[in-house]
Amino acid sequence: MDLTLPEEVQLLRDSVRAFARDVVAPSAAERDRTGAFPTEILRQAAALGLYGIKVPEEYGGTGASMLAYVTVMEEIAAACASTAVSLAVINLGADCVMRFGTDAQKKRFLTPLCRGDLQAAAFCLSEPHSGSDAAALQATARRDGNGYVLNGTKQWITNGAHAGFSVVFARTTPDGGAKGITAFVIPQGTPGFRVGKEEHKMGLRSSNTVQMIMEDCRVDDSLRLGAEGQGFEVAMAGLDGGRVGIAAQALGMGRAALQEGVRYAKERKAFGKTIADLGAVQDFIADTAMQLDAARLLVWRGATMLDRGLRITREAAMAKVFSTEAAGRAADRMLQVHGGYGYVNDFPIERIYRDVRVTRIYEGASEIQRVVIGRAVTAGG
Ligand code: CAA
Repeated sequence: MDLTLPEEVQLLRDSVRAFARDVVAPSAAERDRTGAFPTEILRQAAALGLYGIKVPEEYGGTGASMLAYVTVMEEIAAACASTAVSLAVINLGADCVMRFGTDAQKKRFLTPLCRGDLQAAAFCLSEPHSGSDAAALQATARRDGNGYVLNGTKQWITNGAHAGFSVVFARTTPDGGAKGITAFVIPQGTPGFRVGKEEHKMGLRSSNTVQMIMEDCRVDDSLRLGAEGQGFEVAMAGLDGGRVGIAAQALGMGRAALQEGVRYAKERKAFGKTIADLGAVQDFIADTAMQLDAARLLVWRGATMLDRGLRITREAAMAKVFSTEAAGRAADRMLQVHGGYGYVNDFPIERIYRDVRVTRIYEGASEIQRVVIGRAVTAGG
């Protein structure tokens, strides 16, 4: 088994690492302070091909692998987690269209997205009263002539205010459970589809999180994504890849936390030596490094399996829960290494600590990932 990245992925990683260091990182603290959306940085990311990393070249994408995608995600997240989550959801939206869209939908939505003509994409699954229990969503899509009329409110929508298109899930059969859900791809500016309340978050403050509201929003059949009733599968298949991406995002944050902790520990002196020489601090550093390496192996396993065309529901859930929890511990320990200085915003660790917390919640909370893993294992998977 070869655990080195293929050469083309290494080359992409190196160029994205330089972009992250030179363009993304320098303004990350300022964006965290102001909450400004990373418009210019995303424009440059699109130009580098990071909007459609897995989208085939014929639709304007980079045509790279899932392994390339998670590598990019780790690098961007190590510099700015807000930018990384925007990119993650852009790629999640693109992925749904790529997997389930018609040729016409791919040309209509993916090509302008990959060119950067669309600022972002969004994925509208959660609602105010259904997050973890996604199949309980209540937004409706009523059949009407050669289309549908959508009503309902979507909650926690990353990129919503900036999305050139949104993948939206709504109920076409009232009592159909998961089988009664259909996916749509709705362009920005469609009458009856508007941005609602913007959230003011603890972390990821320069990512955009809003409600998206549908009020008698009429879409024709050309905007249905996949078959009627296939929406839950569209969502779950998208999330399998998305969760590995979020695991990689958390890994990037954990790596940045470790780097900040080590840097501080090598400078700060106590008891006549640097604190990096204290056993307690070495324990923190060793445990963090071990757990992040293990997380990376799970991320790479999920990505590699997806690249082979295998279903990765169980592996994606394992990667997400392990990596996000390891990254949370990394941020906590490295903040502790900083002592009081970790609790004020003079050092990046304070932002990382806030940013990393939500990775255990979005794209399926840790508790849901454990349900998925538990079901797969008991079913013999
Ligand atoms: N791929 C394909 N099909 C799948 C699937 C997958 N990964 N997972 C489930 N399905 C299918 C099942 O096979 C089943 O079909 P059959 O009845 O034909 O077998 C159907 O979908 C229903 O599946 P379940 O019985 O497992 O459904 P459930 O209601 O018990 O719930 C769940 C499953 C795993 C709890 C699911 O609701 C879930 O993942 N919840 C979390 C939601 C989530 O992750 N939200 C994230 C929002 S997006 C976001 O956060 C983005 C952001 O902004 C950062």
